[in-house]
Amino acid sequence: MHKTAVVLPPPATNPLRPSLFLAVASEHRAHRPIEPMAMVTAKLSSPATARLAPVRSAQPARRASLVRVRASGGSYADELVSTAKTVASPGRGILAIDESSATCGKRLASIGLDNTEVNRQAYRQLLLTTAGLGEYISGAILFEETLYQSTTDGKTFVDVLKDQNIMPGIKVDKGLVPLPGSNNESWCQGLDGLASRCAEYYKQGARFAKWRTVVSIPCGPTALAVKEAAWGLARYAAIAQDNGLVPIVEPEILLDGDHGIERTLEVAEKVWSEVFFYLAENNVLFEGILLKPSMVTPGAEHKEKASPEAIAKNTLTMLRRRVPPAVPGIMFLSGGQSELEATMNLNAMNQSANPWHVSFSYARALQNSVLKTWEGQPENIEAAQKALLVRAKANSLAQLGSYTGEGESDEAKKGMFQKGYTY
Ligand code: 13P
Repeated sequence: MHKTAVVLPPPATNPLRPSLFLAVASEHRAHRPIEPMAMVTAKLSSPATARLAPVRSAQPARRASLVRVRASGGSYADELVSTAKTVASPGRGILAIDESSATCGKRLASIGLDNTEVNRQAYRQLLLTTAGLGEYISGAILFEETLYQSTTDGKTFVDVLKDQNIMPGIKVDKGLVPLPGSNNESWCQGLDGLASRCAEYYKQGARFAKWRTVVSIPCGPTALAVKEAAWGLARYAAIAQDNGLVPIVEPEILLDGDHGIERTLEVAEKVWSEVFFYLAENNVLFEGILLKPSMVTPGAEHKEKASPEAIAKNTLTMLRRRVPPAVPGIMFLSGGQSELEATMNLNAMNQSANPWHVSFSYARALQNSVLKTWEGQPENIEAAQKALLVRAKANSLAQLGSYTGEGESDEAKKGMFQKGYTY
């Protein structure tokens, strides 16, 4: 990419050096265009000084880099930090049940149920009313419909969660659409009207939010797709914090592809460096966010599978290189791994102390055996709730690094990867 050379005097004689540095650095970032050098030199007093004199440009865009802006969150800052810490509490993780109505329909179809509001409510009621869930689950991500729904007895799902000491969360992105100018990649919609939606969700009881965008390794990823994913996540995070919601930052690096684990590591490092660059640029309060990364694994169609130890080593290498310790929690997605794999990999990551709480925010890897046990039959509800507790407890143990993998069912060993899966 094009870089402009700027000849500078030593720092002591050039009080504006930092702003020039920022301006040059930010030239790589499409959102802050640098002032063209021709304009800069035109403002200098004489050609003799043009090479050495400090540039006294009063460019507002450039000066903005140096204006001290408080981190997002404002009056919510303390609450954001406390919410994030509660979600990232020892031995607990997130139950992700924020499938859009269309995606929930896929779950229901897998057990022969129609995608009606009544069936979605029945399924979410089964999950959320599981007695004892709060021991292992600290937060539940809901879809908008569920945030405003109640049990068939008339108790709001938000109250059901609060009574179990589980924080209600809300998916706020509006899904993926094709990204023009890219290599068949996508971008995530939902920034328009986001502030007012977040404010309403907060009033309804939500305390954290989720925005999921994706990056595809087989499609590149192109620099454009990575930048767009990172910028969208950062804008969302700042807006969510401004309205009292802890943002879960989720750039999912899809499992699709036949690449090896080294390639995933390389892409994950690139994606997270870009995400943190823009999070910082948007003054997001790092103590008040949670991350939802993919684990660093080989592509699903790679010739060899990686062991939990290899996945843990690569994933932690990536996180240590890219994630500041100010971030309280890393809550992995399962991404199509089997329930067992997702639990074993998490356990491997918790064999020694980490700078952050390393836990789970699984959808597929917490729901699969529940659905298969339930089959839509009222008489199976109790058994299905037990199946949820089995998975939640296994992942709780994995968060503490003490899961053994004994006594797992065959259902838990079944992979759930589907090529080109869309949420
Ligand atoms: P899984 O990959 O664990 O199915 O969930 C991803 C997700 O973002 C759900 O909130």
